[in-house]
Amino acid sequence: MTEKTLFEAYKLGSLTLSNRVVLAPLTRNRAGAGLVPSPLAATYYSQRATAGLLITEATQVSAQAQGYQDTPGLYTQAQIDGWRQVTEAVHAKGGKIFVQLWHVGRISHVDLQPGGGAPVAPSAIRAETKTFVNNGFAEVSEPRALEIDELPGIVDDFRQAAANAIDAGFDGVEIHGANGYLLEQFLKDGANRRTDAYGGTVENRARLVLEVVKAVVDEIGAERTGIRISPVSPANAISSSDPQPQFNYLVEQLDALGIVYLHVVEGATGGPRDVAPFDFDALRKRFKNTYLANNGYDLDLATSRLNAGQADLFAFGRPFIGNPDLVERLKAGAPLAGFNPATLYGGGAEGYTDYPTLAETQTH
Ligand SMILES: Cc1cc2nc3c(=O)[nH]c(=O)nc-3n(C[C@H](O)[C@H](O)[C@H](O)COP(=O)(O)O)c2cc1C
Repeated sequence: MTEKTLFEAYKLGSLTLSNRVVLAPLTRNRAGAGLVPSPLAATYYSQRATAGLLITEATQVSAQAQGYQDTPGLYTQAQIDGWRQVTEAVHAKGGKIFVQLWHVGRISHVDLQPGGGAPVAPSAIRAETKTFVNNGFAEVSEPRALEIDELPGIVDDFRQAAANAIDAGFDGVEIHGANGYLLEQFLKDGANRRTDAYGGTVENRARLVLEVVKAVVDEIGAERTGIRISPVSPANAISSSDPQPQFNYLVEQLDALGIVYLHVVEGATGGPRDVAPFDFDALRKRFKNTYLANNGYDLDLATSRLNAGQADLFAFGRPFIGNPDLVERLKAGAPLAGFNPATLYGGGAEGYTDYPTLAETQTH
């Protein structure tokens, strides 16, 4: 049998991706006034358009959904128009692009919340972590527990943002169900102590995320809806006592909704892949559409898991920061450039759109 490679076309729903390499969502805190994506974002994403699929940085579905300074939104006309510049630039280069939709829940700060209010969460439990606000790192604020009658409004914010995404020219949306943000706060019992229909059992903790996915599917179609999960990641100080049954159940339900991909952060986000025992193949088996794998991948690991049938697509995060032409470099076996950690969050073109391609490096 011939070996499969990352560099062949792949059919994702009705889209044909030019290869199996995906840009992982990367927050870069460079939105402008009104939390409109900066004009530089169009350059940044189009520089990476040779990836089979681009997933944008996490993008707020509402003002309440914000947890960090200068992250973009998708709930005002100006934001929709700003994102349209990005999708047009990517499409002009033949790329495909999904927007990652998030609500941060308790990972926020009163200075970022409408009216200086408390961030919202399933339960009033503060996470032991920091956010970036007022040009520096600060402890997240004490959250308040959401009232049950507020939840339909949050579901509707995701639905509306998905409609706005299509208006802005995106090929689809990725619902952010990972990394300790609102939807994962409901899923994991370290953050969810509710005693109503949204807490307690595996089924109840999955209720909000499934309502969000269903609303988005009803609005824009299952072929344009993906989700990201991180079953064992402790990112943003979250914990779960029963990730396997929780995520086995969730993925069965997601499969029934027919969404186009399941994006799985395998292990601790940006850390060890074997942080806790967990059977990721059990998720793969429960989901018939595309399995998109992430976390600590290099070409060898991706190729071997592709050929073992364990994943279809592979998202690369950190390697894409300093290598806009990551696909070409991987294909050529060329060395990868690093990146400057000081310019990750905030600022302008430096450390954002000024990383050269290999060809540019060689001619300079
Ligand atoms: C600068 C930076 C920003 C990130 N922003 C996001 C984000 O907005 N949404 C998300 O789901 N993950 C985010 N992540 C996590 C990455 O998508 C990815 O899961 C992580 O870097 C592990 O993949 P890698 O080993 O290929 O880098 C971010 C990571 C980094 C380094």
